Amino acid sequence: MKITVLKDASGAEARVAATPDTVKTYVEAGHDVTVVKGAGKAATYADALYKEVGASLAASNSAAVKAADLVMSVTGGTAKLLAGMKRGAAITGLLAPTDRLDYVEAAAKAGVMAIALEWIPRISRAQSMDVLSSQSNLAGYRSVVEGAGLYGRALPMMMTAAGTIAPAKIFIMGVGVAGLQAIATARRLGAVTTATDVRPATKEQVASLGAKFIAVENDEFREAETAGGYAKSMSEDYQRQQAALTASHIAKQDIVVTTALIPGRDAPILVTKAMLDTMRPGSVLVDLAVERGGNVEGAKPGEIVTTKHGVHIVGYLNWPSRMAADASSMFARNLKALLPLLTADDGSFAPDWDDEVIRGAALTRDGSVVNDRLKE
Ligand code: NAI
Repeated sequence: MKITVLKDASGAEARVAATPDTVKTYVEAGHDVTVVKGAGKAATYADALYKEVGASLAASNSAAVKAADLVMSVTGGTAKLLAGMKRGAAITGLLAPTDRLDYVEAAAKAGVMAIALEWIPRISRAQSMDVLSSQSNLAGYRSVVEGAGLYGRALPMMMTAAGTIAPAKIFIMGVGVAGLQAIATARRLGAVTTATDVRPATKEQVASLGAKFIAVENDEFREAETAGGYAKSMSEDYQRQQAALTASHIAKQDIVVTTALIPGRDAPILVTKAMLDTMRPGSVLVDLAVERGGNVEGAKPGEIVTTKHGVHIVGYLNWPSRMAADASSMFARNLKALLPLLTADDGSFAPDWDDEVIRGAALTRDGSVVNDRLKE
């Protein structure tokens, strides 16, 4: 099949959906790969590297998509681009379907199969294709590194001739994929690490990483996990108890990383302005949930805010893009793992519509919106 690798034209995205490594395997499997010039540049993958492994280079996205059976992208490109694709072809990316209904409509109109990678079902078989996990893992790592960089003190305990430096205290709120990697990173850097979540399953995971678990562990907590493994919205009473516990704990913390999300809702506010004022000047909060409203009161998307009291709140967006080389490499391998579900035995493009992974992630087919979640 003909595969095209798009260049992100928005300027806000440094990642690329295929690396020279994955392109090499596609070419070896007999696929015809076109990479748009400069597609991998911001992720450190030069055009020449793609050429070396057998890809052709194209001058622009619009020229490169015309003949493609499958277009690989990070964020889907523009709705306009879809009109220039072949009917029956597909495009993969993090498409943010519910936020970009115009894009979905354009895909249907163009007869293009839009595949939203964030909607790949989180079943064991699809773990290798799970872009959300591969990217969140890196975001969790980077959040602690970024927090440590902004923090004006050392993280590990240091006993020197000039005296002893006490270890920093890092608190991770929300122990999903990003939170787990944040805990592991904080521990490696020598910080005294604590973590909290509302899902009881996380208690053991936190302990296994050598951190201390802190939470309101009442009956509601014991039932807080949905069948899909996600958090539920907690009652007002629980939130009040959680806030009291957070308030007393946070006053003693140096770096706080928040990652708490509830599917389909705004992120819960876990750290209030009043709590921020109890922290030592120079403390750092990193809010990974800022794209969904934020866990920290006063966090601003894309900015670092410093309170009057001297506490920094980091609200950067698109953390994986800050680690574009590794993030692209993981993203590209996730796509490579998905490819067999889009390929017939003879190597031609043939999505397996009987597969629940394809049905979960595909938004459009033959000119219509077919995704159950989207129809809801
Ligand atoms: P997420 O990004 O939706 O949420 C992050 C964390 O915030 C979750 O652990 C959640 O419980 C927590 N949270 C929500 N409200 C909170 C509150 N008020 N206070 C404190 N914490 C709060 O989660 P993510 O990273 O997507 O993982 C969700 C689940 O999916 C996990 O159980 C994970 O193990 C599972 N998973 C399964 C995979 C598979 O089977 N293929 C792959 C990846 C994750």
